[in-house]
Amino acid sequence: MGYPKLTALVAVLTLMLGSSQAQLNPFFYTFTCPQLPFVVLNVVSQALQTDDRAAAKLIRLHFHDCFVNGCDGSVLLEDVPGVIDSELNAPPNNGIQGLDIVDNIKAAVESACPGVVSCADILALSAQVSVVLSGGPAWVVPLGRKDSRRANRTAAANLPSPFETLDVLKAKFAALGLGSTDLVTLSGAHTFGRSRCLFFTGRFDNFNNTGLPDPTLDAAYREQLRQACTTPGTRVSFDPITPDTFDKNYYINLQNHKGLLQSDQELFSTPGADTTAIVNTFAASQLLFFIQFGNSMIKMGNLSPPPGIPSEVRLNCRKVNPPTVLHDVI
Ligand code: HEM
Ligand SMILES: *[C@@H]1O[C@H](CO)[C@@H](O)[C@H](O)[C@H]1NC(C)=O
Ligand SMILES: *[C@@H]1O[C@H](CO)[C@@H](O)[C@H](O)[C@H]1NC(C)=O
Repeated sequence: MGYPKLTALVAVLTLMLGSSQAQLNPFFYTFTCPQLPFVVLNVVSQALQTDDRAAAKLIRLHFHDCFVNGCDGSVLLEDVPGVIDSELNAPPNNGIQGLDIVDNIKAAVESACPGVVSCADILALSAQVSVVLSGGPAWVVPLGRKDSRRANRTAAANLPSPFETLDVLKAKFAALGLGSTDLVTLSGAHTFGRSRCLFFTGRFDNFNNTGLPDPTLDAAYREQLRQACTTPGTRVSFDPITPDTFDKNYYINLQNHKGLLQSDQELFSTPGADTTAIVNTFAASQLLFFIQFGNSMIKMGNLSPPPGIPSEVRLNCRKVNPPTVLHDVI
């Protein structure tokens, strides 16, 4: 009689111990690093005092981390020839910034609770704190990720591109279990931060070899952008109304044909797409957007690495631990 229960218990325990990040939970550091949320909040708010884009940089890092082999801090690893083929060298990560801010958060966290908190969790928490400090919603962040001892530049090269059609973007999200609602919701992070001109000047003339501008880009806005784009590397705000605030203006911009990237505007302007109605819903209700944003961020944050990849709590977010440091190596 007792055996089936015992077998079940053993199976559950095996599952929990056998995998490096079996089940994330918000209380993971409650006893080992109770001050963690405050430490992160403190450093991110300091960073925002000198860098308007600090919050945008941090959430984008979490996105690029999670989309490549799960949220495992792999995006932060620097190149080590023959050992680590850094994801930072993949074209989609070419403009990524904020590693210096992550270093500062990590330093503060290490001094509060040495060797306990993973860099992947620091990214997840920083993303949430960044949104809150920019006027957006709070959500409860599941924790307990480990840091990978591997990077995958090939996979990073396949991150979503601003030049892809909606079908391709949807397929890339769907491959990770993220649906149209998640795509529209998470793209809402383009309510703050900047994009370099090189990602959208192709919309101004001869768009997609049509000989004409992108018809889904408002003509007056197009000329404003053309003026702003003095060099391909010039950075322009995603949201011209409230550039550094986390709000629903992104969706209102899309309705007004003022999406900055082709991939933004497609969510609203692709004929017959299921994403148009979702844009309209969020443009009409900041509350619905905020609630769904937390849900979709948790879903993205739950993406986990394939089993069997060696992991640890990295001491320096940019490097795997030296062999002598045995923090949680499996
Ligand atoms: C749908 C697919 C997506 C595409 C094609 C895309 C593309 C881009 C591009 C091209 C940039 C400008 C990069 C540069 O100038 O170097 C950018 C910036 C940014 N992205 Fe995305 N993105 C996508 C989804 C997301 C998601 C899911 C998030 C977060 C949840 C996000 C957050 C950001 C933020 C905050 C910035 C501004 C960063 C800064 O100011 O440094 N993006 N994105
Ligand atoms: C890296 O990612 C690619 C594409 O997702 C995959 O095919 C390959 O197996 C991965 N390589 C490693 C070493 O994990
Ligand atoms: C660009 O052109 C290609 C080929 O004609 C087409 O399949 C694609 O949908 C076009 N993209 C956009 C955004 O119009």
